[in-house]
Amino acid sequence: MSQTGATRGREPVRVGVIGAGWPGERHAEGYVANPDARLVAIADANPERAAAFAARFGYLQNGQTLKVYSDYTELLADPEIEAVSVALPNFLHRPATIAALEAGKHVLCEKPPALNHAEAREMAEAAARANRLLAFALQRRFSPAVEALHELVSSGELGEIYHARGVWTRTWGVPKGIGGWFTDPARAGGGALIDIGVHVLDMAWFLMGCPAPATVSGQVYNKFPEETKTDDSAFALIRFADGRGLQVEASWVLAQDEDHYGVYIFGTKGGARVDDNRIDLYTVGEEGRTTRTRVIRAGWQQAFLGQAANFIAAIRGEAQLRTPAAHGVQLMAMIDGIYRSSAEGHEVAM
Ligand SMILES: NC(=O)c1ccc[n+]([C@@H]2O[C@H](COP(=O)([O-])OP(=O)(O)OC[C@H]3O[C@@H](n4cnc5c(N)ncnc54)[C@H](O)[C@@H]3O)[C@@H](O)[C@H]2O)c1
Repeated sequence: MSQTGATRGREPVRVGVIGAGWPGERHAEGYVANPDARLVAIADANPERAAAFAARFGYLQNGQTLKVYSDYTELLADPEIEAVSVALPNFLHRPATIAALEAGKHVLCEKPPALNHAEAREMAEAAARANRLLAFALQRRFSPAVEALHELVSSGELGEIYHARGVWTRTWGVPKGIGGWFTDPARAGGGALIDIGVHVLDMAWFLMGCPAPATVSGQVYNKFPEETKTDDSAFALIRFADGRGLQVEASWVLAQDEDHYGVYIFGTKGGARVDDNRIDLYTVGEEGRTTRTRVIRAGWQQAFLGQAANFIAAIRGEAQLRTPAAHGVQLMAMIDGIYRSSAEGHEVAM
């Protein structure tokens, strides 16, 4: 059983990554860059991917050889490992996370938290039962631009943030994943909304202070069934219990001018648009709109480093999780609500 908090001293947290794809590599970069973490193992069902991952990240750790597992349950049985990243396809988030928690590991699970709200709740309950940390990879909360805007909002400079809009609309960009799981509702849980809408919904919700959702009105479409069996676009309005609102727009296929990505927040003293690299601030004055621009020069990679650092610091008892299980459960409730509202054709209560 791993030590947590003050009892563990300065020993680095020993971590395993499950899933050697693009997100698994980003998690590994976060651990390798962190002196309080040590990456010790990789598990992937594809031996070539696992070997390539081990060669790359073993080398980064001064020639150390990573342990390589093809079956993630074997990695979970390794007593040296205290924490894992789950970077598997969506349908494996729940089983792998619950198995990891029951094996006594802390878990950082990729987005979306799960296929649906019920699964996310089960995962959070498993973490509470096991007395282990469960975080979700909502890494854009750690992007320096989002962090800076969050601080600005908290300082009150923009007044009351009464509305927000999260937009990630691709004109054309349907992911497939190994075996085509991204476009299969049973294995992905949904399409553009659950895949990329979840990021901008979360950024906007985080900047608003994570208010409690009250009702949701959603409209999702599958107009390009030859490309995907899931939603290729989704649009929704979420009303919060405190009277504020949030719109989300997401697409993999949409006839529009160009791709759009960004989160807009509207406050009584000012508004802002943020993406991974910059913040644009707006105020409305007597002479009309004035715009100030603040550019934060840091790439999206920084977000993955911050996410890993927060997870490790939380395990060490030195920080609160910024992306805790409870937030993942709420996000999945909102996403379920959007799909349900669209299927039923009316606004639904949360
Ligand atoms: N946070 C982000 O910005 C971000 C970006 C991309 C993907 N993701 C998320 O990461 C997850 C994985 O996405 P992906 O694009 O890497 O998918 P993928 O299908 O490309 O790859 C997943 C990896 O998991 C491995 N794998 C599959 N089944 C396995 C099993 N049973 N046991 C062990 N290994 C197994 C595959 O061999 C592959 O290496 C998804 O949930 C996706 O939503 C997050």
